[in-house]
Amino acid sequence: MGSVGKLAAVLLGLVALANGQGLHKEHLECPFPEGQDVSSESECAKYSACMWEADEDACHMSNDQLAGYMVQGEPEVTATGYKVSLVKEDPSVTLFGEDVANLIFEVINHEDYHLQIKIYDADSSRYEVPVDLSFPDEIGTDPLYDVGFSEEGKPFHFNVTRKTTGTFVFRSIGPLTFEEHFLQLSTHLPSDYLYGFGENTHRSFKHSFEPRTTFPIFARDQPVGYEEMNEYGTHPYYSVIEDDEGNTHSVLIWNSNALEYSTFMDDVDPSMTIRSIGGIIDLHFFLGPTPEEVNSQYVGMIGRSAFPNYWSLGFHLSRWGYNSTEGLREVRERMKAAGIPQDVQTCDIDYMDKKRDFTYDPVAWADFADLIDDLHADDVKLTLILDPALVIDFDNYAPASRGRDSDVFVKWMSPDLVPEDQEPGANDYVTGYVWPDEKVVFPDFMKPETQTWWANELKEFHKVLPYDSIWIDMNEPANFGTNLDQPWNWPEGMDPWSLKCPDNEWDLPPYPTKMVRVGDNQSKKISDKTICMSSQHQDGHNNTFLHYDVHSLYGYYETLATYIGLQEVFPNKRPTVLSRSTFPGSGSMAIHWLGDNSAEWEQMHMSIIGMLEMNLFGIPMVGADICGFFGEPDMELCLRWMQLGAFYPFSRNHNTIGTAHQDPGMWPEVEENSRHYLLLRYKFLPYLYGLFHYAHMHGSSVVRPLHNIFPSDLTARDIDDQFFWADGIMVAPVITQGATSRDVYFPQGLWYDLENHNLAATGPVTLNVDAPLEVLPLYVRGGVMLAYQEPEVTTTKSRLNPFGMIIALDEDQYASGSLYWDAGDELNHVMDEVYMSHMTFANGSLISQSHHSTDPVAGLYISNLEFLGYPNIPSSVILDGVEQPESEWEYDADLQKLVLFTDIPLEQGDFTVTLA
Ligand code: GLC
Repeated sequence: MGSVGKLAAVLLGLVALANGQGLHKEHLECPFPEGQDVSSESECAKYSACMWEADEDACHMSNDQLAGYMVQGEPEVTATGYKVSLVKEDPSVTLFGEDVANLIFEVINHEDYHLQIKIYDADSSRYEVPVDLSFPDEIGTDPLYDVGFSEEGKPFHFNVTRKTTGTFVFRSIGPLTFEEHFLQLSTHLPSDYLYGFGENTHRSFKHSFEPRTTFPIFARDQPVGYEEMNEYGTHPYYSVIEDDEGNTHSVLIWNSNALEYSTFMDDVDPSMTIRSIGGIIDLHFFLGPTPEEVNSQYVGMIGRSAFPNYWSLGFHLSRWGYNSTEGLREVRERMKAAGIPQDVQTCDIDYMDKKRDFTYDPVAWADFADLIDDLHADDVKLTLILDPALVIDFDNYAPASRGRDSDVFVKWMSPDLVPEDQEPGANDYVTGYVWPDEKVVFPDFMKPETQTWWANELKEFHKVLPYDSIWIDMNEPANFGTNLDQPWNWPEGMDPWSLKCPDNEWDLPPYPTKMVRVGDNQSKKISDKTICMSSQHQDGHNNTFLHYDVHSLYGYYETLATYIGLQEVFPNKRPTVLSRSTFPGSGSMAIHWLGDNSAEWEQMHMSIIGMLEMNLFGIPMVGADICGFFGEPDMELCLRWMQLGAFYPFSRNHNTIGTAHQDPGMWPEVEENSRHYLLLRYKFLPYLYGLFHYAHMHGSSVVRPLHNIFPSDLTARDIDDQFFWADGIMVAPVITQGATSRDVYFPQGLWYDLENHNLAATGPVTLNVDAPLEVLPLYVRGGVMLAYQEPEVTTTKSRLNPFGMIIALDEDQYASGSLYWDAGDELNHVMDEVYMSHMTFANGSLISQSHHSTDPVAGLYISNLEFLGYPNIPSSVILDGVEQPESEWEYDADLQKLVLFTDIPLEQGDFTVTLA
């Protein structure tokens, strides 16, 4: 290594791979476009980069030298790292087309915890994800990682190690494949504690390696199910707990093309193959080392989560098929009569006139505006659904004609692809069919013109129906019947028609990934149920993009346009946008629900997994359709799901058209229990709100798996039927039919029952706890404080009530917490204008110190301080220097609980309580 290399070695942690490393024989499967079942000697022979192993009856990738790339020359130092040239050794050895001849392997150092590795074509530019990421101005000086790669003239491999432990966080194996429409990279992983990747139908949070498991990733209107399927969003992001100490890293594969990942054991090593059918290899490593540090490092780059409006943390009720204002009023009355908390009422496409966006049904929903007034009078907000596609009725439908005037719709990549039977006046727009019984066009949300037009439509619509938030659905984008004779909902009597995609390299790529073989992919093409890959998008800088590349960004850009548009509708208010399709960064703007699930017990479990994953992906405001979207729940399932859903950050009951009502008032038992648990949710909304504020400011997750709090607890790493609100409340829902008890794992520490405050467990221990139908097991962790407020049926009312604090003491009689408060919905909440107090209880004293402003808490006070785990009756209780009479406090020796009845005005700022 020359002087340049030496410099790199010192500054950049450059380490050459030892000779021989990477030469042990890996068993990397050869990917077959038709699926691995077709593997045979003759199929294997079709691919020169594959090799038939007769003794194993298997088709493997050929060796690294033959099938991969070789390192050429010395590394070239750059401002942020270095570049290494790679050359394809033997161009005749390929999988699905020519390999790119020359590649650059580039190491880019960001913060000490953040490393970027790019592998790209040295000679011509390829598509790269156009979404902006945040990087620091200066690079770190003491990276947590080292990067190694093979010596000059050797087959290319690279690795990333964690310096403090020497652990390989990434160690490439086998040949790298880099073809026009196929990229493949395999690696050993330091352990099988692998989490993340989405959006997928995962049945466990921790991934499985035996048997080999492959999931596709590509945005798709795909309901929840049990096969290995790609669903609505795209998050090629995973994390790994490396060792017993809990050191954790994560990796973003910054690629928006269709992907798949395969997990398997290579001898004894957990391993993974990542494949993409476009773009480049662009990896971002985050070295943590704790799971929560990893989380905040990642969202620091993609965008920290949006700070939800306080009211959006209330309960949302929704369904498809109220069918009229009368139908909706009936349900609303049931909620009111039952006294069930509700902050948001949602309306689905049945409010629309002929399912057209920005309209409402003039007959069944004639008095919709009055209904909205009534909801608002009850302090209930209204969410309206919008679908992206607009019907092609330019003469009679102003939103579409204005869109055409601004040229906002997605086009074919070349005029010769426009079908002969193109709708008159539809220019070179791609036309499809979704819910309305007319053909539609799709806004190209990447275009600034589209964003302007969409904002205007949102504003105009708000003048007609004063909604409070927008739900953007079908934005994968979904299109029905693509490549089939006709869509399933095509109007009877009309000549069959559907969007047909051309046979070209984008719509028929050589390796379409597993997505074409799973779920309800009827046409077995990647354009199934969406628009053609040879559609074209445009940004504001005269760049064009193929739908092939940016398909999975459709929802992201629609979210962006909606988020910006709603700021015009509600100046200086935080926009509330609910999006089905998401991409890294969506969480900084949107709420997400987990899509069309079914009223089935296992789907309750899968919703916890999905919620944990979305928190990894930086979308903490997440939940699933409570009680299930498809199918009809029985009383027990709906009751249990309402219990669980009361602790989804985004808590919404929603179901499909044509099914029985499943709002909580439908069964007396569900009504009573939902009232109880939703009131409990509302009680702790000040705590939840503070968590969201913290996540927004610092990038933590809100809902966490146990191992985020106890990274070195091996038992915790397998648990995905319990979860936390941050590190304070542990929820252990019953998700098994007929169960009246369940095993709960309590990690290290003291655990108090959230409701009756007794000491439930001293961990680590697994206990079988009673959980009859009416009981949801909920615990507070010793050491934390939870802010609460007496609940009401809306947050508008509950926000006026006195506060209390649960002070759950740990073994050392210590606890800490905070209380955050503000106006609840302001966009630019300046820290000078918010209330924040930090509280600690140590050595018998509770000290609360407020920061910033006390304006938002004018008129509010703390009425209760509840100490859990206080071992003996105090001989004196002193508040701000004043001894409190015994009438002002109460001690329960059995519970070891001390309650102080106070009226501390929060405006006062600081206070101190001393117990002796
Ligand atoms: C999609 C949505 C679902 C909605 C339906 C009708 O299936 O996922 O939530 O109810 O469309 O708009």
